[in-house]
Amino acid sequence: MSSQNEPKPVGPEYKSAAEKPTATISTKLSHPNVTILPQTPQLIALLTMIRDKKTQRADFIFYSNRIIRLLVEEGLNHLPTVEQAITTPVGRSYAGVKFEGKICGVSIMRAGEAMEQGLRDCCRSVRIGKILIQRDEETAKPKLFYDKLPTDIADRWVLLLDPMLATGGSALMAVDVLKGKGVPEEHILFLNLIASPEGAGNFAKLCPKVRVVTAFVDQGLDEKNYIVPGLGDFGDRYYTT
Ligand code: PRP
Ligand code: URA
Repeated sequence: MSSQNEPKPVGPEYKSAAEKPTATISTKLSHPNVTILPQTPQLIALLTMIRDKKTQRADFIFYSNRIIRLLVEEGLNHLPTVEQAITTPVGRSYAGVKFEGKICGVSIMRAGEAMEQGLRDCCRSVRIGKILIQRDEETAKPKLFYDKLPTDIADRWVLLLDPMLATGGSALMAVDVLKGKGVPEEHILFLNLIASPEGAGNFAKLCPKVRVVTAFVDQGLDEKNYIVPGLGDFGDRYYTT
């Protein structure tokens, strides 16, 4: 095990390292466009729930949704804002900001659809497009079946949704589809639960302008290109299909 993967103390700041339990936290990545959520005790506890093979479907959905909400909230911090001066009910002015430009979500089906509600909960009436990409079970190569995207997607910031980034093939293919519709790479924000270091590194190298927000970069891939330790097949566990 590399020193990066050795369990580290996890817990509130007011406790000394010796008093904290240890847990494996995310591998660090140096790419400036990859943001890894802060490895808080809450996030590690939520991830522990969804990684556990004994976790039943209802809990898997509930705890995944909690992490998805954290990803969406962090992702929104990466969208551009402009100054917005307002007056409060007591007649005072306040120098604030508002979001600039239109957004939309795009889920990579099937597993990415699990992230749509978390986006809707934060962005009222958000438009959501779909790209159906499936990995070949033998080769792990992605295959594109279908896309249905807002017609004005080239004028929007796109929040691309997929919980798993393993080899990176599916996410790269989705970015190609978006670029083919005129979306500039720098207007894409990819929200992801768990990435492998090789997938995230490859993705960041080939799409250096796409911003990635992930909850965790794991240890690696197994011989079937599943993320390890991972959580298994996200879509199968979320949808039980
Ligand atoms: C999973 C996952 C990603 C992809 C990641 O989908 O949701 O889309 O695999 O692997 P990659 O980085 O190696 O491409 P899958 O194709 O298994 O379909 P699903 O969404 O129906 O589970
Ligand atoms: N897709 C998943 O759902 N899990 C993995 O580990 C890899 C691809």
